[in-house]
Order: sequence, then C-alpha cells, then structure tokens
Amino acid sequence: MHPIDWTKEFKRKAPIHLEIGFGNGEFLIRQSKENPRHNFIGIEIENLLIKKASKRITRANAKNVRLLKLDVNIALERLFAQRCLDSVYTLFPFPWPKKRHYHHRLFNKTFLKLVNSRLKTKGAVRIVTDFKPYYEWVLLRTPNTGFKTKKKTIDPHFNTQFERKWAEEGQKSFYQIDLKKINHISTKVLKEENVTATFIKDFNPKLYAPKNKTGTTSIIFKKFFFNSKENCGTQNMLVAEKNLTQKFRVLICPQGKKWCVSLDHDQDIIKTKGVKESLLQIKKACPKI
Ligand SMILES: C[S@@+](CC[C@H](N)C(=O)[O-])C[C@H]1O[C@@H](n2cnc3c(N)ncnc32)[C@H](O)[C@@H]1O
Repeated sequence: MHPIDWTKEFKRKAPIHLEIGFGNGEFLIRQSKENPRHNFIGIEIENLLIKKASKRITRANAKNVRLLKLDVNIALERLFAQRCLDSVYTLFPFPWPKKRHYHHRLFNKTFLKLVNSRLKTKGAVRIVTDFKPYYEWVLLRTPNTGFKTKKKTIDPHFNTQFERKWAEEGQKSFYQIDLKKINHISTKVLKEENVTATFIKDFNPKLYAPKNKTGTTSIIFKKFFFNSKENCGTQNMLVAEKNLTQKFRVLICPQGKKWCVSLDHDQDIIKTKGVKESLLQIKKACPKI
C-alpha cells in the first residue's frame, strides 16, 4: 500500500534521511554506520547500482538502510507521505549542462516544492555539485519553495566515486546548497489505482490479437505464452508513463464459466492508470467468440 509506512518498514520510529542518486552506495552506507539510530533510504534508477549497493549493505550488515529502484519524482509523489522525512540530500547529481537537456535537471521549482512537502518542519536539503552553472540554476529556483537558502563553496570531503573522479581531474572546489524548511507547501500523495480483475466470456489464444498503443502512456504487448496443460495464458507487458516504465505479467485464466484477466501475484509494481488501462486493452484484444 502507498504511501509506505516507513516506521513499519524499518520496525522502529527514528529520523529518516533520503539520498537521491546514491551511485555505488558507499556514502549512504557510511552514513548509516555513523548514525545507527537513524534510518536511511537510497533511491537510484540504475539496476546495476542497486545490485552493487545491496551487496555492500549485506556485507556491512546495515539494518537501517532501504533501497528503492525508481525515479525520485515517482518515489516522492507516491511512496512518501507529507512531512515524513528529516532530510534529503544528493551528491553530484547529473548537471545536464546542455540547454536542450535542462528539462532533465532534478531541482526545478516543482521538484523543490515536492521535496518540501515530504519533509518535516525544519527538515533539511543538501545539494552538492561540481558544476557551478547548475548550482546557480538551482539557486534561482529556490525562492517561494518554502525554504531558507544557504550556499557555499567547499573542499572535497564526501569521498564519493564522483567526488574522487572530479578531484583526480584537478577540481579543488565544489558547490553546496543547504535548504531549511520554513513553510510547508502541500503536494498531495498520488494514490495507487484500484486495479481489479476484469472478465471475458470466452478466450481463444489463436484469436487473441493485442495491439500496442503509443503516446503519453504507451502500452506495449511483449511475449504471450499459453500453457495448454494448465489452460492459462500469460501476457508480458511494458507500460511507459511519465518518468516510469514498468514490466509486469497479466494472467488470462478460466474462472467459473468466464475467463479472468488479472495481474499476476507477487509483482513489485506501482498500480498506475497505465497498468489499469493495460488490462482493459487485453480485454479488447480478445474477440467475442
Ligand atoms: C553523477 S552520479 C553521482 C553518484 C554518487 N552520488 C556519487 O557522488 O558518486 C548521479 C546518480 O544519480 C542517479 N540518478 C539520476 N537521476 C535520477 C533520478 N531521477 N532518480 C534517482 N536517481 C537518479 C544516477 O543513476 C547516478 O547514479
């Protein structure tokens, strides 16, 4: 169920810190070890980095860390309640230096307001970058986002993979923005859709002809298998929505006198409008027999 009850997830009430784009996870795990009474959540979009960090967490036996493989916009919109975080930090986020890529930059005004809403009163944000134009770009966006802003030029001292990379290339100073929440800006948590099973009168796998749909929400039909022994079909789906691409399975199986089209069990997916619509598209692809 979303948003996640983090106290339940960590099995204790403690301050919660969120690291955006933790890379190989070394800083996140170091922080968790230095602050054993605090809880830490790391967000990454790269699968491989999640795997690497998970191994580090196991090796370090860090029980106060959780990882999310998700775009941070989606995570904050859906998985975090308002006023639940104590701090949010990001070290060396992608600066997207080309003007035509500015829309990829994370800390725009909308995102700053979203972060604000998920922070507790007096919650803190720290953004550290190697790229001065990005620092200046963010500073222009902080007014009217509910934060008091402080900025400074700093020496390298976070010892992350990217900080070492820039330092080895000769960069001596980095740029830090510290934000303190002074006003709450409400941004509602996006609720999951109620994705229920849908029924069709009859199903013939030979006549089943799904069609991809593209647009702001793309619904792509991947492989379909029909297990004739068990008389049950599995449709692999890919649904792409804003900042979120999900792969999942839908079952088409007899139930009573009808056929039931439903999400397969135990899938770690966010039930979005696109997921809901994909079930209806499957139903459409089954001709009435
Ligand atoms: C330049 S790296 C910095 C990694 C690490 N913090 C360090 O200092 O070594 C930026 C990281 O942010 C992650 N990232 C970029 N956009 C993201 C997003 N929207 N949500 C979550 N992570 C993101 C990337 O996958 C990448 O690992």
